[in-house]
Amino acid sequence: MSTDELLNRHRAVMPNWINPLYADPIELVSGSGCRVTDASGRTYLDFFGGVLTTMIGYDVPEISDAVRRQLDKGIAHSSTLYLIRKQVELAEKIAKVSGIPNPKVFLANSGTEANDTALLLATQYRRSNQILAMRNSYHGRSFAALAVTGQRSWSATSLSPVNVSYLHSGDRLRGVFAGLPDAEYIERSVADLREVLATTTAGDVACLIAEPIQGVGGFVAPPDGYFKAIKEVLDEHGILWVSDEVQTGWGRTGEHFWGYQAHDAVPDMLTFAKGIGNGFTLGGVVARGEIMDCLSAISFNTFGGNPISASAGQAVLDYLLNHDLQSNAARVGEVLHAGVRGLNSPIVAEVRGKGLMLAFELVRPGTLDPAPELALRVLEETKANGLLVGKGGLYGNVIRMGPPLTLTEAEAKEGLDILAAALAAAHQQAVTA
Ligand SMILES: Cc1ncc(COP(=O)(O)O)c(C=O)c1O
Repeated sequence: MSTDELLNRHRAVMPNWINPLYADPIELVSGSGCRVTDASGRTYLDFFGGVLTTMIGYDVPEISDAVRRQLDKGIAHSSTLYLIRKQVELAEKIAKVSGIPNPKVFLANSGTEANDTALLLATQYRRSNQILAMRNSYHGRSFAALAVTGQRSWSATSLSPVNVSYLHSGDRLRGVFAGLPDAEYIERSVADLREVLATTTAGDVACLIAEPIQGVGGFVAPPDGYFKAIKEVLDEHGILWVSDEVQTGWGRTGEHFWGYQAHDAVPDMLTFAKGIGNGFTLGGVVARGEIMDCLSAISFNTFGGNPISASAGQAVLDYLLNHDLQSNAARVGEVLHAGVRGLNSPIVAEVRGKGLMLAFELVRPGTLDPAPELALRVLEETKANGLLVGKGGLYGNVIRMGPPLTLTEAEAKEGLDILAAALAAAHQQAVTA
């Protein structure tokens, strides 16, 4: 069956709002290390990992073997009506690395479900449905997760179980905080938070939910130390802080294990998903024990932390720690960041991110006008030359990369050469347009 035929069948039976990338979408049929192969036999270096999810790489024996061992036992599911050893072990491991005091862990299937649960816990604990979120955020696709998502193109509905006030994003390229130095940005943000609390809430806010680096938002981030300053104000009011670590967790930023750790402050809850399963469905929440235990009703999750996902999760976490992939993210990330900056492309307005989380924002030359058409060109050019990258940002003009944390320096350099050629082609398109 051809890829074209599969695309037609996809369009006929799948929702219109699920859009594969590229003018000619591809089907990935196999993978090994940091490379994937499509149905036509073409191989690509993968700098996106299915949206920062294939965190260890493809076909990793330690992970496949752990899953196979569980499958061989004949139990893929038992439900939390029965004790699940793999689940308890995984929760213990995650609690240990979380940095959250007196931690308890709830295992779920996705980032959406993790954030929904964090919002449920915060609103119940604080007996309030008022939430603070960030502009330009993305937290998932359920009603509650959408309600705290601050991007029009991802907001499918205004219906909301929570009452949300939005703080400014870390964007200093455009907008009212454009060009502000770090200290002044933090000072103005703290003043804005106080004003928001005084003017757009009825007091007794439940929590702030925020990504340390905004994933879908194009890796926009406030300066280090921002959340410490914000938390000081939150603490004055007893407002909880939820750090959405779905993209920033597990050492991806290189300098820290969690994104929140760049801020010298500890959240009350963190949420995780994506990379911890390396493709197996796994997400969850770590919360201070008294917050996690605040629900008065029984709650039940059929699939969350099932023996298969939990086996994968443990193997991923063990691999990550045993191979010190955080250090690799710092080292190889630096090669990527320096390489992209060194291209000095006139259509790149800003290079953002940390470690193996890197984005650049495309604009029309000599302006700050977002250029989504140039992002599309870079996507197509990189694909044509054997590299997969992603797209994002408020205006769809940001190229995002989040390769497996096992990426080697040689692979980073190989990808950089392809990116350089793609940017040159996009620049050419911009000047001849
Ligand atoms: C920061 C962040 N939070 C939450 C989610 C939602 O995760 P999921 O797609 O697993 O529901 C995403 C997904 O991209 C994300 O990037």
